[in-house]
This record gives sequence, structure tokens and C-alpha cells, in this order.
Amino acid sequence: MKQIKIKGKNKLTGTIRISGAKNAAVALIPAAILSDEDVTICNVPEISDINSLEEILRYLDVKFSRATESIIINPKNMTNKEIPEDISRKLRASYYFMGALLSKYKKVEMYFPGGCNIGSRPINLHLDGFKKLGATVIEENDKYTIEAKKLIGTKIDLEIASVGATINIILAATKAKGTTTITNAACEPEIKNVCDLLNSMGAKITGAGTNTIKIKGVTKLKKGYVEVIPDRIEAGTYIIIGSLIGENLKIDNIIPEHLKALTTKLLESNANIEIGRDYVLASSSNDLKSVDVETYYFPGFPTDLQQPFSVYLTQTKGTSILKETIYENRFQNLYEIKKMGANVEINSNKGYIFGPTKLRGKTVNATDLRAGASLVLAALIAEGTTTINNADYILRGYEHITEKLTSLGAKIELTQI
Ligand code: EPU
Repeated sequence: MKQIKIKGKNKLTGTIRISGAKNAAVALIPAAILSDEDVTICNVPEISDINSLEEILRYLDVKFSRATESIIINPKNMTNKEIPEDISRKLRASYYFMGALLSKYKKVEMYFPGGCNIGSRPINLHLDGFKKLGATVIEENDKYTIEAKKLIGTKIDLEIASVGATINIILAATKAKGTTTITNAACEPEIKNVCDLLNSMGAKITGAGTNTIKIKGVTKLKKGYVEVIPDRIEAGTYIIIGSLIGENLKIDNIIPEHLKALTTKLLESNANIEIGRDYVLASSSNDLKSVDVETYYFPGFPTDLQQPFSVYLTQTKGTSILKETIYENRFQNLYEIKKMGANVEINSNKGYIFGPTKLRGKTVNATDLRAGASLVLAALIAEGTTTINNADYILRGYEHITEKLTSLGAKIELTQI
């Protein structure tokens, strides 16, 4: 187990460069296997979820070379075979191999994906999409065999604007015969990033970034290139940190438009932030006031920032209500920050935070990725030292977090115990 220790209350200053987006990169790598030529993906973050995807590439005999920030994938001589459970379960995004392998080989065998335990997270909409395109799906003890003689473009109206289902259906439809139209598609920026790569490889996809996406099937995909967009969740996490304990902390290399829901709430609560063309400058403020937040699909307030934001709300004056509408179990971090002195109550999908409260260093447990990030925030503003167990979760999604925070002045240490 990895453990992070933080001695709190050090002001953070300087510039932090935001890495490539985890949730884009984890879809871009499986998307690359649709080609038969070199596919180059730049600005790939060094996080453990990417290592887990590389393990799948290796297992499927996909040739790739990884440099510091880029990966070149050549799937020409890859093999399609059953992806074993221990590899599928390492991350959520392994499910993108379902759409990609189905598209390329018309057959895929793999297990239910892994990912953080933040709710039931079914994949019924992915499977329904594959079926509508003409595939049969057999599920036996969490193993899925998905097969099609032919995939044929069709109309798919998603019951929920699911990010994963939207991308998986796009992948499957890219090499289908005819046109597929997805309505109520997810609009998250990561989806456009994936479609940009596929289009550079020769796919014919329009409407990405809106809720209607059209995919005109093609037979062959060639070499492609894409740069991973900046990680809006990593950026948001550091903007919140800067608003709590920053001194002209510059969060650089971001797309402010992707962070509007967060920055709007921060400004509403009197945070000291300045929004530039591709950066945010954040400093602490003594005059923060409570705000209510409800998570929603993009461009709404992202569920992935709800947990980090809950720590911010412990420092604002008054009662804030956090309503989580995407996942059933995304408040586990509140029990942990309660140990540190936060005054919080949970009632079904609502968290009530009464502030401001002083936080004190304690031993706490990261129950999932963003819960872990929220504990890093809590530890940075707490009196004394905090020990965060199960920090492995945090390394799944935050590139070089200890190095980045150290360079800003934090006292943080990562150890393997
Ligand atoms: N849903 C279904 N059936 C499905 C698919 C989704 O009921 O077949 C439900 C989910 O249970 C959830 C809602 O729809 O209640 C939205 O889920 P979505 O499919 O959009 O989530 P996801 O694709 O599994 C991605 C990110 C998550 C992020 C969500 C929402 C990846 C690998 N994961 O998950 O990221 O929270 O979109 O933006 O891209 C994280 O980074 O910490 C994280 C959890």
C-alpha cells in the first residue's frame, strides 16, 4: 500500500502545469487499436491507469513505444484474444476495448471492468448500444462475449448521457456499415478529443461535443495523431487548493471554458481567483461564504470535483448543500474529513457542510480516487500531519502529485508500506 503524509498549513505558490486528461487518454489508447498504422498520442499523463492500459496492449501483442509524454501505438500485428479478469478489473476504462475490439474484429471476450467503488456503475447502455448495432452479447459470471456477423449503423437514443457508453458506441460504430446517430450523447470534452483522434485516422464523425453525434462507418483506418486535452479535473483540484491555501498560485495549461461550472461556484463564494486565457491564478481568502452545488453532466458541475469541493466548503461560512446526482456512493470522503474536524452530515444523496471549521491532521483512508484527492486538500489546510492510507487510488489519476505539490512549497511525502 502507498501512503501519503502531509504536514499542513504551508502556503503554496508558483506555477503548476496541468497534465493531459486521464479520462481522455484512457479512451484514446483503446481507440488507437482501430488503426493498422502508427497512431501518436501526445501529452499522455504518467498515471497508473495508463500503465494498466499498457498492460492490455502488451497482452494483445500491440506494439507501442512510450516516451515521456507521448505514446506511439502500432496495432498492425495485434492479436484478438480474451482479456482475463485480473487485467480487465484493474480500471474502469478497460471497457473501451469492448467497443474497439468489436469494431475491429467483430468479436470481443472480456470481463466486467474495474474502477472506483462510487456506485453500482452498470454497463447496460454500452451493451444495448452494441446490440442495436447488430451484436449478440452473452454474459456469464461477469464475462462478456460480444460478437457480430456485421455491425450496421442505426439510431441509438441513450437513456442516460453516459460518457463511457457514448465513447464505446462511437468506437463500435466507426467501422460499422452505414450511419449511426447517437442522441442524448454525453457532451464531455473528452469525447470530442476521442473523435478528433478517430477523424484524424480517417473516421467520419460529426457532432462530438453536442448531444447528437453522427458516425458514418468506414472500412479502414490509417495513421493518426492527437494531443490529449488538459485534465479539467486535475486543474479543478489545484484551483480549489489555490483558493484555500494559494499565494498567487498559477494553474497553467488549462482550458478555462471546461472549468466554468467550478469557477462560477468559486466566484459566487468569494474565492480569490483570476481567470486568464489558459490559466487561473488562485490565492486564499478570509471571506469565503457557503454555496450549494449539484453535480450534473457537462457543462454542469462535474461529479469528479464534488469531493475536492467538499473540503473547500468546510472553510466557507454558513451551510452548504452538496447534491450528488450521478453516483450513489460518492460521499465516503466526508466520513474521513469528519475525523479531521469537519462538521458534515450525509442524508442520502445530499451532503450538508457547516463551516468554517478548523481541520486537524489525522490518519485517514482514501476510499477512491477523488476521495483521496479531497483528503490531500484537507491535509494541506489542516493543522499538523495527516497520513493518507491507500494513496494508490490517488496515483491512478493525478500525475506526479507529490512532486508537483512539493515544487509549490507543500510538505508531502509518498511511501510504500
Ligand atoms: N450508467 C448506467 N448504465 C450505463 C452507463 C452508465 O446506468 O451503461 C450510469 C452510471 O451508473 C452513472 C451515470 O450513468 O450513474 C453516468 O456514468 P458514465 O457512464 O457517464 O460514467 P463513466 O463513463 O463510467 C466517466 C469517468 C468518470 C466520471 C464519469 C462522469 C472514465 C474512465 N470515467 O465514467 O470518472 O465520473 O464519466 O463524468 O472516463 C473519475 O475520474 O474519478 C471518474 C469516476
